[in-house]
Amino acid sequence: MERNSMSTLSFLLEGLRNIGTTGTITRSSPALCKAAIDRIDFRTARTIVELGAGDGVITRHLLERLHPEGKVIAFEVSEDLCDDMRAIGDPRLVVAQDSAENIRHWLDRIGADRADHIVSAIPFAALPEDLGRRIVTAARDNLREGGCYNQVHYSLKTKSYYERAFGKVDARRVYLNLPPAWVLYCTK
Ligand SMILES: C[S@@+](CC[C@H](N)C(=O)[O-])C[C@H]1O[C@@H](n2cnc3c(N)ncnc32)[C@H](O)[C@@H]1O
Repeated sequence: MERNSMSTLSFLLEGLRNIGTTGTITRSSPALCKAAIDRIDFRTARTIVELGAGDGVITRHLLERLHPEGKVIAFEVSEDLCDDMRAIGDPRLVVAQDSAENIRHWLDRIGADRADHIVSAIPFAALPEDLGRRIVTAARDNLREGGCYNQVHYSLKTKSYYERAFGKVDARRVYLNLPPAWVLYCTK
């Protein structure tokens, strides 16, 4: 089986096994991936952090546009999905098989002071509220001033997490995804 089909299968299996942490059985569509990386300034960004990267569907879009000397740190808790990301084989990709609240530790590992931008598809509505708020706080604290935090969601249930952390939140509906999704855009 080719790698992409294997990856689709492992994402589906992971969704069925651990729906409480994956929050879905389908990964983001090309339209949703594009919306998720909107507002990132790829000319200047050198450190991009991705939270809840799954099998790397958004990661690939980030890497396509990333500066040759840039890094993407992609957090994912599932070992199988991390294996899919490692198979991408891009030296600019750091696969962090870890919970997203440990952003500081992984920035230190690559010698970065702050993330320039953060993209998240963590299904906060499916996680305990205290964990969700800790992750969003760690994301804000480790984002540079002026950097953007883009959050992919299927509902607006946890919008208050981002309002509390960042103040203003812009929400955009993305219909070309199953199910239709939202991207919430925040700036530090
Ligand atoms: C909705 S899926 C998104 C996958 C992919 N980024 C996409 O857009 O299709 C959410 C992912 O977040 C991961 N996840 C859940 N809790 C996490 C945590 N605390 N830290 C890092 N990743 C987490 C899940 O394992 C799952 O792969």
